[in-house]
Amino acid sequence: MILVTGGCGFIGSNFILDWLDQSDEAVVNVDALTYAAHPDNLDLLADDPRYTFVRADICDAEAMTRLFSTHQPRAVIHFAAESHVDRSIHGPLEFVRTNVLGTATLLETARRYWQALPEAQASRFRFLHVSTDEVFGSLGPDDARFHEGSQYQPNSPYSASKAGSDHLARAYFHTYGLPVMTTNCSNNYGPRQFPEKLIPLMIVNALAGRTLPVYGDGRQIRDWLYVGDHCAALRRVLEAGRPGELYLIGGDAEKTNLEVVHAICDLLGRLRPGPDYRSLIRHVSDRPGHDRRYAIDASKLKRALGWMPTESFASGMERTLRWYLDHAEWVASVQSGDYQRWLATQYGERTVERA
Ligand code: NAD
Ligand code: TYD
Repeated sequence: MILVTGGCGFIGSNFILDWLDQSDEAVVNVDALTYAAHPDNLDLLADDPRYTFVRADICDAEAMTRLFSTHQPRAVIHFAAESHVDRSIHGPLEFVRTNVLGTATLLETARRYWQALPEAQASRFRFLHVSTDEVFGSLGPDDARFHEGSQYQPNSPYSASKAGSDHLARAYFHTYGLPVMTTNCSNNYGPRQFPEKLIPLMIVNALAGRTLPVYGDGRQIRDWLYVGDHCAALRRVLEAGRPGELYLIGGDAEKTNLEVVHAICDLLGRLRPGPDYRSLIRHVSDRPGHDRRYAIDASKLKRALGWMPTESFASGMERTLRWYLDHAEWVASVQSGDYQRWLATQYGERTVERA
């Protein structure tokens, strides 16, 4: 079986659903169920004998040791993290705890388990560490895209804590030979993403007739990838990637934030005609230390492992929007009191600069 961490979050839940759609190999999902988790994401699997859920914190070494010895995984796919830049600005220490200490705890547990395995199993064992392109910092408009040799230059507490976890993953390969592979992916979007990140926040706000808060001039660039394409890349790296290697994953879809928000408004106008959604856009005060541009050169992954994204930005956005329109109950259920408090903290005091 494979052990997935953080499988009740956005990418982890998509990964588990896709995995069990394509394979009969069992999955154990360990998740602490933070605000970002939505266990209903995996309701479909409630009676599936191939799926086991364990609630635990990756920082809890005893719980991690028990998990490995009970389930004897042949691979770990490590998603669990604090993942939102704005929250890392408000509360950086939780990011250091989960992303650095949690990853260190998991690596150390995996090392002890792996060193005790018989040779045939040890040589097949893999630890796939799922990371982000944000560890490489910010690009200028004409800079070459990030590649596997790019320097680490993290700028936010989120990206710095993910960079710390990447360094630990690298060190466990170099020092102990633990067969670790790291992937650094660009911004994902798709079904089941918590509406604190740009795309689901804009969809959920637009549907509720609330304003669409664009930070600063809205000309920051992200390289968007549909979550299903990310999951396919991870499966491919797990299957054929080389231990010790880094693989960058991206969708060749660089867009400014304003282009993304306009695309959502226009698509909603087609799928759910009603108000002029673009009129809800407001430019608000910028994120401190806001990275200007991320862009990925994924040619190594394409060349070495034959991966290609299957969704264009337009087709992926349409799938995403249709999912949110078809899942009004999910959308309502994630907007709890905690979520309202987050909106008040994050947006309540932001100055509206212009429409
Ligand atoms: P998410 O915030 O939606 O989900 C994170 C999950 O981890 C949640 O289910 C949460 O309960 C769990 N978790 C948090 N702390 C934990 C702990 N201490 N112990 C156990 N579980 C814990 O995140 P996501 O967007 O699905 O991202 C998953 C991974 O992919 C992260 O490592 C993130 O850095 C990386 N990543 C995300 C993106 C993106 O665009 N979302 C892009 C590239 C890489
Ligand atoms: P986000 O989804 O938080 O991802 P990240 O910061 O990790 O790239 O944000 C994507 C971009 O959208 C980023 O440039 C910040 C911007 N943004 C807004 O303009 N308004 C918002 O309300 C949010 C959440 C993000």
